[in-house]
Amino acid sequence: MDGRPDNVEPPQPLAPRGMLVAIAFVAVLLSATVGFRQIDPTFRAAITVSDATVVSHGWADEQTCGACHEQAEDFWQTGHANTLIPASDPDSVRLLEFLQSSEIGTRESVQVQVLNDVVQARCTTEGVVNTAHLNWCFGSGSHARTWVSTLPDSFAASDLLEVRWTWYHSTDSFDLTPGHPQVKGHSAAGTMGLLFDSPRAWRCFACHSTRLPVIDGHISDAHIAPGVTCQRCHGPRQKHVASKGAWLGPAWVNGDRDEAVRHCAQCHRSPEETKPEEIQKDNVDIVRFQPVGLSQSACFKASQMRCTTCHNPHKPMDKQDSKGVWQCIQCHSPEHNDHVVCGADMSDNCLQCHMPAIKHDAPVSFTDHWIRVRDQSELLP
Ligand code: HEC
Ligand code: HEC
Ligand code: HEC
Ligand code: HEC
Ligand code: HEC
Ligand code: HEC
Ligand code: HEC
Repeated sequence: MDGRPDNVEPPQPLAPRGMLVAIAFVAVLLSATVGFRQIDPTFRAAITVSDATVVSHGWADEQTCGACHEQAEDFWQTGHANTLIPASDPDSVRLLEFLQSSEIGTRESVQVQVLNDVVQARCTTEGVVNTAHLNWCFGSGSHARTWVSTLPDSFAASDLLEVRWTWYHSTDSFDLTPGHPQVKGHSAAGTMGLLFDSPRAWRCFACHSTRLPVIDGHISDAHIAPGVTCQRCHGPRQKHVASKGAWLGPAWVNGDRDEAVRHCAQCHRSPEETKPEEIQKDNVDIVRFQPVGLSQSACFKASQMRCTTCHNPHKPMDKQDSKGVWQCIQCHSPEHNDHVVCGADMSDNCLQCHMPAIKHDAPVSFTDHWIRVRDQSELLP
């Protein structure tokens, strides 16, 4: 990789104003590739464009993709498509209605008010009422949903307040957000959650959205394209649509295996971002980072396996038999006598022994992608 994220078009001759836009785009999208590494402050200074120009740069209306591509058929129900929604979306409001009556909501005196699309959380601590305008909801809900508030800092850049109360799918209730202290802080923000600086706020949005216009560090709510949708993976496609598919962009189809895995690892985390001493079979923290575990597996090392060997990024999990034996017997079956076969019955659920779901610190489980033979002590009862 040359450091340029693959959803940015190659450099083209541009008028000076356009050039500024291009620089801003590379900069904004780089923040996604760079992941959670520190952002150089000069980087932020490069972003000085008006939102209107940013928004008009090369992006197609994704409602048009479905006219020519069957990939769009079920896509809008995927976790990717729904991983960021406005807090005022009915799916978010429906859950928030249960926050104040939940155990944690009662204990921490939380109230939520929704008035004309404005969602406000109020929290009373020692007689003092603090309020926050919740504007975004992170997570599709297949695991969890967490709400945030973007607030201007003293440079008018967007900082982010991540609230302490997260909704979990597995328990259908609210509990503490992962990584938050058991005892709430005393500052106005601290009673409601944790405050992150603007580079960190961008990084959250960069991995959870398709287009992220940032003007002077300010994230423009009105112009975010939330969710990981077609053009986050396939690049801006206005020219593709205008030319009825004649102009092609990044397809991620027949490329090199390691390159393909790196595309997914931009957000799902790569082994290079993980300290070698942390890559241990008994470190449950790495189960969240599927590319890290998968790349340690004998299956991965001895084959051309990639993420799309088992996952179709265009279909929701429940429409692709995501726990199926089919995934394994693509290679491990008597028909493929170049691969070893397990002593267990071929119709058994291979995952329970070789790729189990592991409970993480919150009420969330992840599938351990480090495919291997485990001894009994490693497996859940
Ligand atoms: C008017 C029809 C049309 C529309 C609308 C359209 N495409 Fe395409 N697309 C095509 C055609 C034709 C091809 C070439 C198919 C081939 O050669 O196999 C193609 C190929 C592709 C490919 C694979 C090849 C590549 O490298 O580009 C991707 C990915 C793709 N389209 C994504 C999209 C997305 C995303 C959208 C919506 C923003 C979209 N398309 C809208 C017609 C269309
Ligand atoms: C721009 C960041 C980004 C990229 C690139 C990305 N993902 Fe994801 N992925 C996410 C986020 C965020 C979620 C969480 C979705 C949610 O909220 O449930 C996710 C969820 C998933 C899930 C679980 C889906 C579900 O509905 O529970 C799978 C499987 C997955 N990604 C596979 C992939 C694969 C395979 C690739 C590469 C082809 C990829 N991802 C590329 C950000 C990304
Ligand atoms: C490097 C990319 C990246 C960054 C930065 C990032 N996320 Fe995520 N986030 C993901 C991916 C990938 C998933 C899907 C995890 C999975 O299902 O394996 C996810 C999942 C989630 C979920 C759903 C719960 C879950 O565990 O699946 C929430 C909520 C969330 N992120 C919020 C945030 C917030 C808030 C921030 C900033 C403080 C943030 N994320 C920063 C990539 C990122
Ligand atoms: C998370 C990333 C991701 C998202 C989001 C995504 N795709 Fe894809 N798409 C891929 C990958 C990876 C492939 C290659 C599939 C493979 O290797 O089997 C692909 C393949 C394709 C192809 C086939 C190219 C070919 O020639 O076979 C088309 C067309 C396409 N996608 C269109 C879309 C459309 C339309 C959307 C939105 C509705 C979309 N994609 C959303 C990752 C994504
Ligand atoms: C050998 C098959 C296989 C491969 C290859 C594979 N996965 Fe998975 N993945 C699974 C299975 C099985 C599940 C659990 C499905 C379920 O619970 O419905 C899963 C679940 C996930 C989830 C949901 C969260 C979790 O951990 O349960 C994400 C995200 C994910 N995979 C990402 C990836 C990424 C990124 C890659 C490439 C680095 C990848 N997977 C490669 C089989 C695979
Ligand atoms: C793309 C092909 C491919 C797929 C898909 C695949 N494997 Fe493998 N697997 C291999 C190869 C190659 C090896 C190395 C030994 C061999 O030649 O069979 C291996 C080795 C293994 C081993 C031995 C591990 C060790 O440390 O010695 C286990 C266990 C295993 N696979 C289980 C699975 C399970 C379970 C699945 C489905 C979730 C799966 N594999 C999917 C190709 C694959
Ligand atoms: C009840 C638990 C269990 C189930 C279910 C199971 N395995 Fe295994 N598997 C094991 C154990 C234990 C070993 C190591 C001992 C052995 O070789 O029999 C093993 C070994 C393997 C090996 C390596 C064999 C070798 O000689 O190196 C592969 C490949 C494998 N399993 C694939 C699968 C596949 C594919 C499935 C689903 C069709 C599956 N396993 C289902 C427990 C299981």
